[in-house]
Amino acid sequence: NQQEFKQMMDAHALATNFYSHILLNTVEGEKALEYLEKRGFSRASIEKYGIGWALDDFEALSGLLKRKGFNMQEMERSGLCIMKDDGTGYFDRFRGRIMFPLWDDTGNVIAFSGRSLYEDKEVAKYLNSPETPIFEKGKVLYNLHNARLNIRKTGKVILFEGFMDTISADHVDVGNSVAIMGTSLSESHLLKLKRIAKELIICCDGDSAGWEAAKRFATIANANGMNIRIALLPNDMDPDEFIQEYGGEAFREQIIGNPHSYMSFIMAYAKRSKNLSYENDVLQFIHEVLEELALRPSPVERDLYIRQLSEETNVSVEAINQQFIKMAGNRA
Ligand code: UTP
Ligand code: MN
Ligand code: MN
Ligand code: MN
Ligand code: MN
Repeated sequence: NQQEFKQMMDAHALATNFYSHILLNTVEGEKALEYLEKRGFSRASIEKYGIGWALDDFEALSGLLKRKGFNMQEMERSGLCIMKDDGTGYFDRFRGRIMFPLWDDTGNVIAFSGRSLYEDKEVAKYLNSPETPIFEKGKVLYNLHNARLNIRKTGKVILFEGFMDTISADHVDVGNSVAIMGTSLSESHLLKLKRIAKELIICCDGDSAGWEAAKRFATIANANGMNIRIALLPNDMDPDEFIQEYGGEAFREQIIGNPHSYMSFIMAYAKRSKNLSYENDVLQFIHEVLEELALRPSPVERDLYIRQLSEETNVSVEAINQQFIKMAGNRA
């Protein structure tokens, strides 16, 4: 109900300020601040994105919420606190993590994602709020409230996997990006993306998982009749890593400014896993691209990519054309 929603949002606003204060103004926050600085975060980014530090303490936030008079059962439902096993009280869900607020579309904090300071396989890199009455992960496009105006101005929305990528892109003046926080793109995400911009630029991580995600996103977005491009990153990098390594200008010009069309992405995707000096790989490569091409209505695309296939494989245009007609025939 409305009353409970309001309490939960108020608690998240309070928690945001609390975490932020500890990061920026206390000795306990210094290690995290150093970590962020090492990763290239500016003070302005830290403040704009409301980043904070959750003390490594079981009662820091719970104690504060209790003192402020919040109903602790509600605080448990909000995801901020967890009830002790013996039912005698509550403790903090987030401890010893860098805290990233997550917002709804109008800029209310509705959840958190907490990053560990360590690259330790034993602990989750990010700990997220659970699904709550105010937070559904599948509905959140990270940064939408900040990016809305830039998206409208450019007519383009860039989609990343991770919110680190969004913050990093914004720092180099790419302000029209959102992130879905992982690789599951929901109906709700799609609907929002479709409404807000004429063009969607999909920019996933450059590792294998990212390529697979990009393929999946592109396919779904295509099926939804969206106008899409796919921006690709070299050497398994993610957008943030690319920006740290090569800078904003390279990112804006080479990556975001030069995205692939769907078919051009498909060519790159099909080629990625193959060695074209092997006959089998050549056959498989041609087959995969033709299968996609068969689903596309444009004869111009057909002509263009059959010629490209021919150039890349040294198989004649005539032979590829015949193969294409045969495949289309089998399908019919
Ligand atoms: P990534 O593993 O690509 O994270 O996951 P990242 O953005 O590059 O983070 P850094 O640079 O290593 O700090 C992309 C997104 O998937 C979600 C997060 O929302 C992250 O932004 N994720 C990832 C989790 O929720 N939990 C995890 O343990 C890992
Ligand atoms: Mn700076
Ligand atoms: Mn990733
Ligand atoms: Mn990443
Ligand atoms: Mn990263």
